[in-house]
Amino acid sequence: MTERHLHAGDNLDFFREVDPETVQMVYMDPPFASGRDYKAVMRSRRSGGSETVDAFSDIWNRDASPLRIESPKVHVLLNALAPALTPSLTNYLHMMASRIVEAWRVLEPRGSIYLHCDPAASHYLKMILDVVFGPENFRNEIVWRRTHAHSSSRRYGPVHDVILFYSKTGDYVWNQPYVPYAREYLDKYYTGSDSKGRYQLITCTGPGDRRGTRAHYEWRGQYPPPGRHWAWQVERMEELDAAGLLVHSATGVPRRKRYEHEAPGVALQDVWNDIGRLDAHSLERTGYETQKPISLLTRMISASTEHGGVVLDPFVGSGTTAVAAEELGRGWLVADRSLLAASLTLSRARRAAGEAPIRLSGFPSSKSEAVALRTKEPTTYGAWATSILGASIDRGRSSDEMTEGHGTLGAEISSKTRSWVPLRKPSGAPQMSESDVPGGVTIGLTFDSPISARILRARAARTGPNLRVINVPLEDAVSSATRSAGLASSLAADGAS
Ligand SMILES: C[S@@+](CC[C@H](N)C(=O)[O-])C[C@H]1O[C@@H](n2cnc3c(N)ncnc32)[C@H](O)[C@@H]1O
Repeated sequence: MTERHLHAGDNLDFFREVDPETVQMVYMDPPFASGRDYKAVMRSRRSGGSETVDAFSDIWNRDASPLRIESPKVHVLLNALAPALTPSLTNYLHMMASRIVEAWRVLEPRGSIYLHCDPAASHYLKMILDVVFGPENFRNEIVWRRTHAHSSSRRYGPVHDVILFYSKTGDYVWNQPYVPYAREYLDKYYTGSDSKGRYQLITCTGPGDRRGTRAHYEWRGQYPPPGRHWAWQVERMEELDAAGLLVHSATGVPRRKRYEHEAPGVALQDVWNDIGRLDAHSLERTGYETQKPISLLTRMISASTEHGGVVLDPFVGSGTTAVAAEELGRGWLVADRSLLAASLTLSRARRAAGEAPIRLSGFPSSKSEAVALRTKEPTTYGAWATSILGASIDRGRSSDEMTEGHGTLGAEISSKTRSWVPLRKPSGAPQMSESDVPGGVTIGLTFDSPISARILRARAARTGPNLRVINVPLEDAVSSATRSAGLASSLAADGAS
């Protein structure tokens, strides 16, 4: 069965629950030691109120992390570096070293790690990786051009991140990735064309004359040139000719057509310019600062895992790794210590996984925990509740009173949804306008607010759209069925459809 586990909490505890040698790939995109705090945009300007909330901190002198690593060599390295570094960088490296040691432990012998960082600390992280994985298992320092050119004061514009790629052993999973040929290359080499498309002409011979074998024979009055043999036996040459795939030069030398669509492309190199950043209009954008594009993760997971292999991301942020792994049919084990990030991950993962079971840990699991969260961190509560409803936050419509979302329920109740999560205990009419009542076949999900549900139903009846309104009580939201298989399965079990 495909493994899916999302943990809201510190990743060291999470790592320690994972059995040794059970994971095929670890992707880590930790804070980069940038010395700043990061935000998540939860409401867009047009919906009023404050726009951002704290997502995570990347300032390391705040909490000293003790060195809890069972690796004498890593101790030696870090103790040697400490006197030369600032305390905050030392703290950061201690934090990272313990996770890198855990990553090595959980990786299968054929597994790999990709550590995403930037030039602020990549050189120190590479030393730790060399010590833990062995310099002989270093595969690439990938340069990912993550943003557009911009001017920077008195230096070259910093536009790239670094991704350090190591395998656990010399025998590791590798599916060669290719990228399409550049237009100039195609124009230069793919000069022929016919009804099947553009083609280039490739030789029909190989090196070595192989006289006396079935590769050296007279074909249409021609022998292979001196020192060479035919690439195919005579039957195959006949087939290619009959299929119109051979072209004969004036001297009668055959050449084979290779079409553009048959060529694999160019083997991918270690400088990646072709995956751009998520811009303001990107549909996958969640508002979480540092969110990576799904295509970046798809590339690494496809290259370094097999179908059914498990990917682990201990710093999952908005959930990109879980979505990419799910779409590729891989298992995923992911963690983030921010409940806000873990909730964004759950929204996205639930949409990708449908009703498949997801193991959740560290999320509110009782009514009293959920109520306490609402009192203490209403925005996080709104993100969590929206994720439980299987919806994604609608930043343009959310306010500090209400988190709104949109999505679909699972296969059983296949329908569009709109969700409304009041962030305070609703005391009167909810803040919904006439335009909030959507048209078409839509399920309105109100969260723990029978009053909102009643008002919405009345409005829907007045305006006439085909809207069914379901109120989800907190008890149902925290039930084990909802937490595992999502709301759709609980509603189906209740016969609410
Ligand atoms: C750079 S972001 C990851 C972004 C992610 N790749 C994405 O596409 O959204 C780093 C994440 O690590 C999380 N984090 C930092 N320290 C952590 C820890 N000790 N345990 C779990 N998560 C942690 C932060 O909350 C933050 O969400």
